[in-house]
Amino acid sequence: MSALTVEKVWKEYGDQIVLEDVSITVEPRAFVALVGASGSGKTTFLRLLLGQETPTRGKILLDGVPLPPEPGPDRGVVYQRYSVFPHLTVLGNVLLGMEMSGSRHAARLFGKRRAAAVAEAREMLAQVGLDHVEQKYPAQLSGGMQQRLALAQALVMKPRVLLLDEPFGALDPGIRAEIHALMRRLWHEHPMTVVMVTHDMAEAFTLATRVVAFERRRDRPEEKLRYGASITRDIPIWPPRRAGLPSLIRPGRDGPALAIPQSE
Ligand SMILES: Nc1ncnc2c1ncn2[C@@H]1O[C@H](COP(=O)(O)OP(=O)(O)OP(=O)(O)O)[C@@H](O)[C@H]1O
Ligand SMILES: [Mg+2]
Repeated sequence: MSALTVEKVWKEYGDQIVLEDVSITVEPRAFVALVGASGSGKTTFLRLLLGQETPTRGKILLDGVPLPPEPGPDRGVVYQRYSVFPHLTVLGNVLLGMEMSGSRHAARLFGKRRAAAVAEAREMLAQVGLDHVEQKYPAQLSGGMQQRLALAQALVMKPRVLLLDEPFGALDPGIRAEIHALMRRLWHEHPMTVVMVTHDMAEAFTLATRVVAFERRRDRPEEKLRYGASITRDIPIWPPRRAGLPSLIRPGRDGPALAIPQSE
């Protein structure tokens, strides 16, 4: 069964058609990169997948079931900036989601459940290389570290789908290469499907299993509002990459040690 099925989805805001007749099927564990000009509706599409917006027409299924009309723990999200809470420590940021879902009223966990959550949060921080800064606040971290924290915060909730909106777009090239390696490793190790918006073609082809382009078929100024964007290209990466290949991950390396080498 496919992880995500988007069927003939339209999104309109008032008179403006943003997305027009978008259909796509995404197989489980895929890593889809979405590219397209500014304003072509990429963020709008992610917001639909997140459940922050509902389609004007059409439907979206997650694992064959209609998507609930609100965000939930099965979908994680990381934005270019401001995904983490500035007034919580690094550890507090990773714990927050578990606290909110584990205790409906107080948003706090106690005793053994808290200890288990802290252990899980620490393990997640170690995976993204932030275990040495757990008591710092986001403002005390570099941009790259903040994005690692945002990934940890999303992944600790074990989402089935991870949605990324230009998550590495604000980072320097050197840092970006490092975080690409981390992202690839996380995708291999966590049983999730990834949909990532990016402006960076090299990034799309470095990480994805499939690159999908959003474009308006008619884009003259007087046509801008009346025609939405749809999928105009859908390019599978060759040779195919597959998530979760033999998982003998060497720390600091960017993929499974025993992965098919030509897929990386
Ligand atoms: N809540 C909203 N209300 C009205 N119009 C909106 C809303 N959200 C998005 N739009 C419009 O939808 C269009 C697509 O916006 P969107 O942010 O999805 O584009 P994008 O492809 O993510 O662009 P960028 O690459 O610059 O991030 C824009 O014209 C925007 O003004
Ligand atoms: Mg956007």
